[in-house]
Amino acid sequence: MMSDLVHPVKIDGLLSQEMSKYFLRLLMFKHAIEGNAGDPLATQALTVVSHPMFLDVVMEQIWGRVEDTVGEALYPSYGYARLHCNGNTLERHSDKGFSEISVTIQLGRTHDYRWPIHYGDEVFELDEGCGVIAEGSKIDHWREPCGGPDGYITAQASLFFVRANGLLTRSNGDGRFSYMPFVKDRVELQDFVSS
Ligand SMILES: [Fe+2]
Repeated sequence: MMSDLVHPVKIDGLLSQEMSKYFLRLLMFKHAIEGNAGDPLATQALTVVSHPMFLDVVMEQIWGRVEDTVGEALYPSYGYARLHCNGNTLERHSDKGFSEISVTIQLGRTHDYRWPIHYGDEVFELDEGCGVIAEGSKIDHWREPCGGPDGYITAQASLFFVRANGLLTRSNGDGRFSYMPFVKDRVELQDFVSS
């Protein structure tokens, strides 16, 4: 199936201000407790949260809008959120594995500085709660060194989906959602809890 997603698309208001700031605080707490802990693509990041229990709540909320933008049915795959400060970068890369469709969301931040993210020739600067939807497996993306005001801290989320009718769906659905069948089967959460 052809996707509508030829170029990265900026989407306003994917997440509420409150949820965006919740994740900023969550990441700041984790950093305060555990100290610096980056990952291979952002070694200087202050910390990373990748537990699905936190990220799936976000993916469930944005799922419909991501599908509408891409123009086909998708399944949530996985995600993580990073906390950054000035001088941090994001290595140039394309996404691997169960990450056909990527959503980068600007979470909370301490100052109104928009740290640009590059997708090929395009540059995006995002308000809190706004995102970029892209075929991250097909287009290089990265961030140049963060240059915000003194003391600047920013939280970013990267969330990934796979095509419901694509080659990755079986592995994704079989392994990933064993604890949350309401996501896999699109059962209303209320029905799942009461059953
Ligand atoms: Fe990426």
